[in-house]
Amino acid sequence: MNSSITPEVAAAPARVSAAGSAPVSSEHLLEAVDLKKYYPVKKGLFSPMQTVKALDGVSFTLERGKTLAVVGESGCGKSTLGRLLTLIETPTAGHLYYQGQDLLKKDPAAEKLRRQKIQIVFQNPYASLNPRKKVGTILEEPLLINTRLSGPERREKAHAMMALVGLRPEFYHRYPHMFSGGQRQRIAIARGLMLNPDVLIADEAVSALDVSVRAQVLNLMMDLQKELSLSYVFISHDLSVVEHLADEVMVMYLGRTVEQGPKAQIFGNPRHPYTRALLSATPRLNPELRRERIKLSGELPSPLNPPLGCAFNARCPLAMDICRRQQPALKPYGEIQAACFALDGAPQTHNRINLPGADAETG
Ligand SMILES: Nc1ncnc2c1ncn2[C@@H]1O[C@H](COP(=O)(O)OP(=O)(O)OP(=O)(O)O)[C@@H](O)[C@H]1O
Ligand code: SF4
Ligand SMILES: [Mg+2]
Repeated sequence: MNSSITPEVAAAPARVSAAGSAPVSSEHLLEAVDLKKYYPVKKGLFSPMQTVKALDGVSFTLERGKTLAVVGESGCGKSTLGRLLTLIETPTAGHLYYQGQDLLKKDPAAEKLRRQKIQIVFQNPYASLNPRKKVGTILEEPLLINTRLSGPERREKAHAMMALVGLRPEFYHRYPHMFSGGQRQRIAIARGLMLNPDVLIADEAVSALDVSVRAQVLNLMMDLQKELSLSYVFISHDLSVVEHLADEVMVMYLGRTVEQGPKAQIFGNPRHPYTRALLSATPRLNPELRRERIKLSGELPSPLNPPLGCAFNARCPLAMDICRRQQPALKPYGEIQAACFALDGAPQTHNRINLPGADAETG
């Protein structure tokens, strides 16, 4: 495959350290530092203003050509993170760097980087593609807004991109409703790639597709990653898909990271009780890789009224006194980082540990 899509972004000034003097390494393609998003909410007309801490201090680095998977239960803050990374919403606090350049800076160079280098593909292409516009118009729109390319040049790029994602040239003149779900998601991916981004955020991008179509779109995404050296932030609740394509995995709970590290570590030797419970519920084809099923009781607590101490304490089979009083910090344990007081005690073995209070069944 060959693309005629070329980068057109001017270099922005390099990032400096917190002290404001020495330049900071720009080796990471994308770096998020302590990102937070707090929403003020009111339950009723006369009720006091409250705060939803949808994202409460998330950090990671993403390298070129790599995939960071973000997993966790519904409501843990995955999509909020996606919206912050694409700057659809501004963080309440924290920093975001692209190759060491401050993406949150209010200047034209940072603005250009924000619009071009990080793109997002949503779960539902029925909602994200304008039904009144033809595929060609949808694809050319980002070029029309962000570049000075002529009409014929835009058309040429749109056709090149359609070929790249496996859409036939005649589809250029068709409307989104004339396509299947898988084809529509290919159009959404093509649109996301029109400005030649380096990072694609995929927010449950294949979750709504039938299993066979899902596999095709995932294969396409993996081909595109190789072809264009793309980096993905892959948001998904489907851990079997994550195991297939992630390099790094970040497990979130109530707006915070509870464990993150290389895929092999997270899947092979999960440390945090929440990660273990999530993984134990993932079907595995290989019987040797099946884990004792740990059923999580209760639901994710409300972010409006988070529990004191560790947010997972009411559901955690290993909870101790300290867990109800203090919030565990994310700390390094070998190659991974995790936030759990139990990890500072006796060493734990993976998945065979007897978790008191958890229903065990074979998964
Ligand atoms: N604009 C908003 N105003 C108030 N609360 C919000 C807003 N957006 C998100 N939230 C809350 O922030 C929390 C995280 O939401 P988010 O959509 O990021 O979760 P998610 O992990 O993507 O869930 P899902 O898997 O269901 O997509 C939820 O409690 C949600 O209700
Ligand atoms: S800190 Fe305590 S409650 Fe939280 S996950 Fe670890 S053991 Fe469980
Ligand atoms: Mg979501």
